[in-house]
Amino acid sequence: MPERNMTPQSKTVTRHLVSINDLTNNEIECVFEVAQSFLNELGDRRLKYRIGRGKRVAPDSILATLFFEPSTRTRLSFESAMLRLGGSIITSADPATSSAAKGESLADSVRVVGNYADLLVIRHPRDGAARLAAEYAKVPVINGGDGSHEHPTQTLCDLFTLRQKHKSIRNLKVAISGDLKGSRTIHSFVYALARFGATIEPLPAPGMELPPHVDRRLREEFRSKIVTRAAEEGEAPIDALYVTADEPHQQSLFSGPEIDYERVMIEKKIDAVYVTRFQKERWSEKEVPYPKIDAAFLRDAKYSEASVMHPLPRVGELDAAIDSDNRALYFQQAAYGVPVRMALISLLLGLQPGKSLRSYETGFHKDRLPLYNQPKSSGIRCGNPNCIVHEPSESQYVRNRFHLVRVAGQCLLRCAYCEADRDKFVTANRRHMWYSFDTTLWSTDDEHAQKELLAFATEDDARKAGFHLRKNAPHGAAARKAHAAS
Ligand code: NCD
Repeated sequence: MPERNMTPQSKTVTRHLVSINDLTNNEIECVFEVAQSFLNELGDRRLKYRIGRGKRVAPDSILATLFFEPSTRTRLSFESAMLRLGGSIITSADPATSSAAKGESLADSVRVVGNYADLLVIRHPRDGAARLAAEYAKVPVINGGDGSHEHPTQTLCDLFTLRQKHKSIRNLKVAISGDLKGSRTIHSFVYALARFGATIEPLPAPGMELPPHVDRRLREEFRSKIVTRAAEEGEAPIDALYVTADEPHQQSLFSGPEIDYERVMIEKKIDAVYVTRFQKERWSEKEVPYPKIDAAFLRDAKYSEASVMHPLPRVGELDAAIDSDNRALYFQQAAYGVPVRMALISLLLGLQPGKSLRSYETGFHKDRLPLYNQPKSSGIRCGNPNCIVHEPSESQYVRNRFHLVRVAGQCLLRCAYCEADRDKFVTANRRHMWYSFDTTLWSTDDEHAQKELLAFATEDDARKAGFHLRKNAPHGAAARKAHAAS
C-alpha cells in the first residue's frame, strides 16, 4: 500500500474531493464566491446563469476525465469548465475502449493517467472507487460519482443554485423525492444540507428510503432535522414527526391538542423539492411504483414558493409540463455546473490569488477518526456488496480499512471507502485469544490495546480463527443477546 497522502498533518498534501464532507462549510462558501466571480466576469449577457466567455486562468494545466459509467452533464461541464479556464482536457469516456476492458485495475490507471494530467475526475459504478483512486493518484482526484455513494460536485451545483435563488443556503426546508437509497446525488446533498442547518423531508419511493448508515449519520453526526410523514393517512391532522436538532435521538409525534398548529403550518412551507430518477442500473427490479412530481403535486400550498430541482437526467418522474413554471430550476442547476467546476478546478490547482483548496484545512472531521486496518489474512470485510473492496481487479490494491466511529454508547466500523457502517460484529483480542460482543472495546485511547483487536463478522468466524469466548466479560451477556437478536 502507498503512504496515504492526504492526512491533515502531512506537509506535502494532495487535496482530493471524494465526499462533500472533505470540504468544510467555509471552503464550500469559498468555491461559491469564486464561481460567482466567474459568472460576474464571464457570464452570458442574455442568460445570467450561463458562462459565455473564457479567461486564461489555467493555460498550462490538463484535466483528465476517466469515466467508467455514462455521463452527459458531469463530464461535459467539467471539460467545458477546464476549456473556459484556458486549460486542456484528455478524456476516457468509454470503459470498453480503455485498458479497463483488458482488466487493468483502477489503482494502476490513476497512477498512469496522473502522469498525463494535473487533475483527475473519476466516475465509477463501485461505491468507494474514488477514495481508492485518491489513495493512489499523485494529483487531485475529484469524485464525479461513485456507485450510490456520493457525487459531491453535483451537490456544489445544487447548493449554488439554492444560494442564487434564496440568497442563503442556511436553514432551508427541502423535500427530497424518489430513489433516496440509490441516488449518490441525494447522499452528498443531504449531508451538506444538514451541515447548513436544513430541515429535510424525505419523500422516498416505496422501499427506497435513505440507507440506514446515511440516515444515522444525518441524525447522530450532523444532528439534522428530519421530517417524516405519519405512517397512516388521517391518523392525525398533522402529517409530521419531528426530530429536533437539540434532541437527535428523541422523536416527538405532533398528535395531541397541545400542538401549535400555526407553527407547524409555517414549518411546512418548503423552499425546494429535489427530485431524482429511479437508479435502475443499481437494482435488479427494472420498474417500481415511483412518485411523480407534476403540477398537481406542486399545487399544495406548502410548495407555492418551492424551487423544483433535479440533477438530471429525468425519465418520467418530473413532468416536462412544469418546465415553464418559474419554480423549475433544473436547467439552471445544470448550467451552474460550469462556473462551479471552474471555481473548484482553479482552487484545487492553487490558481486563485489569496484563496486555495490546496492546503488541507480540516475537511469535515473524517480524518480525525481512528483507522482500523484489517489484516489481509482474516477478519471482517465491508458489508456493502457494491463496495470497491469487493472488485476482483482491485483485490491487490485495497485493504479492508474502517474508521472507528463512537456513537450512542457503542462503536461502529465505517468502511474507509464506501462509508457503509457495520454495527454488529465480534471483537477479538490477539494477545489473549478471546472474543467478545462488546464493541466499546474499540473506544480505548490506548493505541497498543487497540492494535491487539481484530474484528470478525460473526462468532463462528472468530471461533474458526482460534479465538474463545471471553470469560466474565463486562456487559458480555447483554451484548451477546443484542448481537444474537440482530
Ligand atoms: C446524476 C448521477 O450520475 O448520479 N447525474 C448527474 O451527474 N447530474 C443523477 C442520475 O444519474 O440520476
